[in-house]
Amino acid sequence: MTIGIGSDHNGFALKQRLRLFLAERGEKVRDFGTFSHEPIDYPDIAVAVAEAVQAGLIQRGILVCGTGLGMAIAANKVPGIFAASVADLYTARLARQSNNAQIITLGANVVSTELACAIVEAWLAAEFRGGRSARKVGKIRAVEGRYRREAAPVLVGA
Ligand code: RB5
Repeated sequence: MTIGIGSDHNGFALKQRLRLFLAERGEKVRDFGTFSHEPIDYPDIAVAVAEAVQAGLIQRGILVCGTGLGMAIAANKVPGIFAASVADLYTARLARQSNNAQIITLGANVVSTELACAIVEAWLAAEFRGGRSARKVGKIRAVEGRYRREAAPVLVGA
């Protein structure tokens, strides 16, 4: 299993710590950036990680911004992606067990480094429980199907 990791400038320091933490655990990690404190728009990183999950290039993703919110909102725009913003151990476990989230997002201004590592550990250890949860997740995926259509033409003058 390969875990993709990414952040904006606000999440950069925490992302670096998490990358180290994952490597120490022996996980295979792919770093999608950012690679400095220079300002960068969080959707660019979120979508890159989410598209890699969707394409099967990586199996899990961890995204870090200031709050964890922008990353989740952006990643969830990619069809098939379930990204959960997590700030405690309970929701970390449930994000996987109940929601089958392939991606978690963290707020560098919300959680400590220690808590972030514990959250990642709890989420990685948890397994999707299927059953009734699978039915509910399936209903969310069905919503995507309702809105999927060919790219709409650009209407000149509209
Ligand atoms: C900065 O762009 C800030 O909005 C970002 O780090 C994140 O918190 C967004 O949700």
